[in-house]
Amino acid sequence: MAKSNLSFPEGFLWGGATAANQLEGAYKEGGKGLNLADVLPGGKARLKLLSQAGFDFEMDTTKYSYPNHEAIDFYHRYKEDIALFAEMGFKVFRLSIAWSRIFPNGDELEPNEEGLAFYDRVFDELHKHGIEPLVTIAHYETPLHLIKEYGGWKNRKLVEFFERYVKVIFNRYKNKVKYWLTFNEINGATHMPLFGLGFSPTSEETRLQESFQGLHHQFVASAIAVKLGHEIIPESQIGCMLIYAPVYAYDSNPENVMYAQQESRIFNNFCGDVQVRGEYPSFINRYFRENDIDIAMEDGDLELIKEGTVDFISFSYYMSRTEKKKKSPEEVGHGNLVGGIKNPFLEASDWGGWEIDPIGLRISLNELYDRYQVPLFVVENGLGAYDKVEEDGSVRDDYRIDYLREHIRAMGGEAIDDGVELMGYTAWGGCIDLVSASSGEYAKRYGFIYVDKHDDGSGTLDRKRKKSFFWYQNVIETNGEEL
Ligand code: BG6
Repeated sequence: MAKSNLSFPEGFLWGGATAANQLEGAYKEGGKGLNLADVLPGGKARLKLLSQAGFDFEMDTTKYSYPNHEAIDFYHRYKEDIALFAEMGFKVFRLSIAWSRIFPNGDELEPNEEGLAFYDRVFDELHKHGIEPLVTIAHYETPLHLIKEYGGWKNRKLVEFFERYVKVIFNRYKNKVKYWLTFNEINGATHMPLFGLGFSPTSEETRLQESFQGLHHQFVASAIAVKLGHEIIPESQIGCMLIYAPVYAYDSNPENVMYAQQESRIFNNFCGDVQVRGEYPSFINRYFRENDIDIAMEDGDLELIKEGTVDFISFSYYMSRTEKKKKSPEEVGHGNLVGGIKNPFLEASDWGGWEIDPIGLRISLNELYDRYQVPLFVVENGLGAYDKVEEDGSVRDDYRIDYLREHIRAMGGEAIDDGVELMGYTAWGGCIDLVSASSGEYAKRYGFIYVDKHDDGSGTLDRKRKKSFFWYQNVIETNGEEL
């Protein structure tokens, strides 16, 4: 194993990241209500839905499968899974609370005790193994009732329901959870409002107006959560969560450089500016004007946003984006999931639209730290790939190890040396295979632990350590010195 010159600070939080809807299963147990993920079909149909208007949020089991219903059954197997995370040496485990386990419809006055008790058991189990929970409060799982009855985050009423929800979970888990994140990938909203904002745009013309209005409601809700969290749990650290994709100009044509800058400001900077600096940035005024966006605000919203700024920035990093102002018809639609065009210098993963770019992680860390000067936390990064179980039962996922090694090097060998303050790293699904969010497949695997479950419904759900399991265990043990 080659020694590296990597330097990670003492106490660096190594671990893995997940979301309730992608691993728990038990979608109707313990008094849980339905949420967004429960009505999203698996496979190609899902990706289409995410980007088109007019989804009716109805299930049709005659046409589709719904893998999130069973997911990997963490609900019943959490003890076995947490023991495996502990074996890898995890310091932290990122998970989300499914809002609809706590408030099945989302608008009740009283919470569901069975749901609260489930997370008590999970947090206790983590602490038993010395693992710190890092909890996402909202990770693409808005209660379905809030979507159908209220229209999701377009509706201001959700701020009130969210406040009730966070009050309950902060009070309940105040002695168990110190690290919190408010809204997962909040800035992904304008691309895919369905996921984060819980609505399907009325039409393509109204998409931006509705999305930015929904975002405003989430900014207010997040600020309320930060304020409440600090009051109820004085030692808590509460972060925002962004999807960060540095935007490169296709070439040195100033038109393209300018275009890349504009796109980056809207996608990468806007939400962070509001949540970290506590103000709408001045550049957004022109964008709103030119796109006929008019945000309805209530008195006191801007003050609240100013008072409820986050303690740190967490973000997911999977890819960069390459932009050109005038794209030819052949170039359109050949960029990454976050847009743009194909970058001729980068290879993509098994899933098109996910170009692999470890240097982009260093660029992201530097851009974020230069802009905000607050601690950063990489809470998602990883390679979704097809894995093969060999005849001897092993899974030799060297491609995953290669991917992670380069990304970890971009943090420890480079960005930290560049001066970035980095709290930790939680590889996505890094702990364990789960249901993919964008494609609803089991086949797109990220884990260090293989789960025997397949898209045709077959599989025992048995867990198995992959080669990457032992590799990551050593990375943690040596605090990143051996990659
Ligand atoms: C992030 C999400 O966008 O990417 C996760 O926060 C998701 O929920 C992850 O699973 C990887 O994406 P996918 O679509 O490959 O599962």
